[in-house]
Amino acid sequence: MNIARQKGCKDILPDESKIWQYIEKQVREICRTYNINEIRTPVFEATELYCRGVGNETDIVNKEMYTFLDKKGRSITLRPELTAGVVRAYIEDGLSSKMSSPIKLWYVGNMYRYEKMQKGRYREFSQFGVEYFGSNSYLADIETICVSSELLKRLDLSDKVNLEINSIGCEKCRKEYINKLKEYIKPNLCNMCDTCKVRFDKNPLRILDCKEIKCSDILKNAPVITDFLCDDCRKDFENIKMALNKLEIEYTINPRIVRGLDYYNKTVYEYVSKDLGLAVGGGGRYDKLVSTIGGVDTPAVGFGMGMDRLVLLLKEYNLVDKLNTNIDVYFLTDESTYIPIQKYINNLRSLGYVVESNIQQRSFNAQFKYANKIGANFVVIVDKEDFKDNKCDIKNMITGEQFKIKLDINSIKEKIDNA
Ligand code: HAM
Repeated sequence: MNIARQKGCKDILPDESKIWQYIEKQVREICRTYNINEIRTPVFEATELYCRGVGNETDIVNKEMYTFLDKKGRSITLRPELTAGVVRAYIEDGLSSKMSSPIKLWYVGNMYRYEKMQKGRYREFSQFGVEYFGSNSYLADIETICVSSELLKRLDLSDKVNLEINSIGCEKCRKEYINKLKEYIKPNLCNMCDTCKVRFDKNPLRILDCKEIKCSDILKNAPVITDFLCDDCRKDFENIKMALNKLEIEYTINPRIVRGLDYYNKTVYEYVSKDLGLAVGGGGRYDKLVSTIGGVDTPAVGFGMGMDRLVLLLKEYNLVDKLNTNIDVYFLTDESTYIPIQKYINNLRSLGYVVESNIQQRSFNAQFKYANKIGANFVVIVDKEDFKDNKCDIKNMITGEQFKIKLDINSIKEKIDNA
């Protein structure tokens, strides 16, 4: 019996893992320069964390969680997102007294949602995320947007995605808006989809996110939340738009962005792929989440970028050629020279060169073919006689030139470096 991979999961094979490593390297480098510290939290948490944090009426909690009872009967959930877990750690590990505010954290990790499979939508997927705690200034929102747009810039994806922003206000102004939205929708509710009918009572703001054409048509003239913002929320949103303009970060305002998680307030945003229509990332402010989960009231803001979707875009636009590893040198040996030559091979590797050798115990001819196949730039040939005389041949596989040189690291290095 063949045991297959679980639906919605994937194996990341070497061709693709190069792309992942490349993105992760950029992520690490960007976070280092922004002085954002890495946090790693468990893959599973108490179910209650997500019910309370993400919201009982969200699709994620309602339909998509991998929840099970452990051997002691406790309800456990595989993390469907990481913000709630990071907030839990922020409170439980007392980060506010261990680090100076604002506390800036980043993570890359797998998460799990029981979703319908589509291109770019998986049940196990990965996010790069950033969470800032302790600043209620719009400048914190702006810095997190700069981090995500810097990543897109480094990946050459800036012109492939749109940054769409909105403000969903605070508890106060959102309440007034929701009343107006419900007033507008009520006469048309019978013509809307079943999900919208349920959301009308349970989570009316999420109706704005419905992709059904009949619902979108009804919502075309719906009131927009940005017309209902209180002074504080409006000022914040204006500041953010002004700063984005000054920083020349392009964006559009999309009053329909409400996000699929209930913890947000004020500015929210999504990066949407222009050609594929997929959200590549999303985030915003969530000033009430720390207190909702049991900590001291702490303003916070952050985002999550879908790593799988970034990989998808890099492949889609053929931006991955440069990631192929070059083999600097192949060591062609015979039975008698393979072992004694290892110290040269490993020394070169310690110096950072990519080196392949004859672990298959192939014949001379087969080794040449193999070196060609893997695209080695140089081949160093060491047979029994040469080894005795402390010599070797080095062949430049691109120009075809071949030289007899001394068998030592500096002589080999010199030929490689000066090619
Ligand atoms: P989210 O919008 O649910 O936000 O997810 C962020 C990104 O993760 C999405 O834009 C998408 O690229 C990717 N993603 C989500 N679900 C899937 C899936 N099933 N398959 C592949 N990729 C997926 C959050 O999770 C928030 N915690 C982000 C955040 C951090 N907000 C503030 N801080």
